Amino acid sequence: MRDDILNPYRIWDLLITVCATLAAVYIPVQLVLGLHEQAAMAYVDWVITLFFVADMLVHLRRPVTVKGQVIDSPTVLARRYMKGWFVVDLLAAIPFGLLSGATLLQLLRLAKLARVVHLLRQWRQREIQNATLLRLIFFVYWLGLIAHWLACGWLALRGMPEDIDKWTSYLRALYWCITTLATVGYGDITPTTNIQMVYAMVVMLLGVAIYGYVIGNVANLLANIDLAKAHYLASLERLSTFMRYRNIPLRLQRRIYDYYAYLWENRLGYDESTVLAELPISLRTEVSLVLKREFIEKVPFFKGASQELIRDIALELRPVVFTPGDYIFKAGEIGRHMYFISRGTVEVISADGKALFATLRDGDFFGEIALLFSQPRSASIRAVDYCDLYALGKETFERILTHYPDFAMHMQEVARGRQEPRQ
Ligand code: CMP
Repeated sequence: MRDDILNPYRIWDLLITVCATLAAVYIPVQLVLGLHEQAAMAYVDWVITLFFVADMLVHLRRPVTVKGQVIDSPTVLARRYMKGWFVVDLLAAIPFGLLSGATLLQLLRLAKLARVVHLLRQWRQREIQNATLLRLIFFVYWLGLIAHWLACGWLALRGMPEDIDKWTSYLRALYWCITTLATVGYGDITPTTNIQMVYAMVVMLLGVAIYGYVIGNVANLLANIDLAKAHYLASLERLSTFMRYRNIPLRLQRRIYDYYAYLWENRLGYDESTVLAELPISLRTEVSLVLKREFIEKVPFFKGASQELIRDIALELRPVVFTPGDYIFKAGEIGRHMYFISRGTVEVISADGKALFATLRDGDFFGEIALLFSQPRSASIRAVDYCDLYALGKETFERILTHYPDFAMHMQEVARGRQEPRQ
């Protein structure tokens, strides 16, 4: 089944949502304002009835996915439908208004909103990348509908004054409803009978509940719309409090802030290994390959290497960042990793720091000699600028050496070539 925005079923769902919303708006208004005699209302009723009936037919044939399995057999689909949504859809499809004039039975058609709730929930689950924004939009949608219904209820209780037209009365009712719901309550429209007073109290209580929801959720939703930035600012805030508390020298603080700024510019402040760690292994390999594609293309050896080797290595490479002037390691240390340069420049320098053996750039690697020959580091490595490196652990390196002879041969060739000038 197509799952893009042009999927015909999704367009149909959207149409049904629009029709159900229209029904939820016009049926209560029609009842309280007595609009059922207007021809336009009858047309709207017919069109909506047509769509709701067609929706029932669509559902008899629409394939569904249950626990990952697609069901498309018409008999199974029909049986499932009869046991599930059929009653709701049937109630919504009967044009009570056309059959028996203005009757409260028409409100039964609002049952279709149960379908809308279901559709909106599905939509939110599918669009996880916009989930926050959708939650906000749906909140405004339901709030609008509730305010409209409450205004209609208020009109029904107050009756229609003779001196003003129907739409002005509706607008006043809506105005009263919004001011009461928003807990503003100017008091210019007040309840006069007992039942109106009870109604007003219910609306006020509802207003308090909505207010609580807004304070608790919507504020949070708004703050999280740019989740990456919120996450970054939160870690920066934590860090700066810690550094002030522990009196970290200003110069060091400056370097730490620069490092964070670099992380933000290049990766939105995320550490890719934490994000990857939460994925299952198959997805992790795919995502690793996508994230490291640009880097893999830079390493000459990987151009001729087998796909298996590339997948194997991509999964094991851990990203590390070094800031300008950092020593990645020093000559004489024990080697536990080798490194590939994704971006940046490093210098290979002698143990005393006086001789510069080489400068390595994007796509180069270093640190293989200590791992290959189980010896201390033969030189020191210093980052010239910000360096994005990928580290490969000793055990993985050894496993890959035994599994992929080409890789082993290439590493040995390079290592010998690098050792020779100094022997
Ligand atoms: P290792 O000995 O583990 O640590 C220092 C690294 O510097 C070494 O591995 C090589 O990867 C790298 N290296 C040493 N000499 C040279 C050189 N002449 N040219 C490029 N890289 C070098």
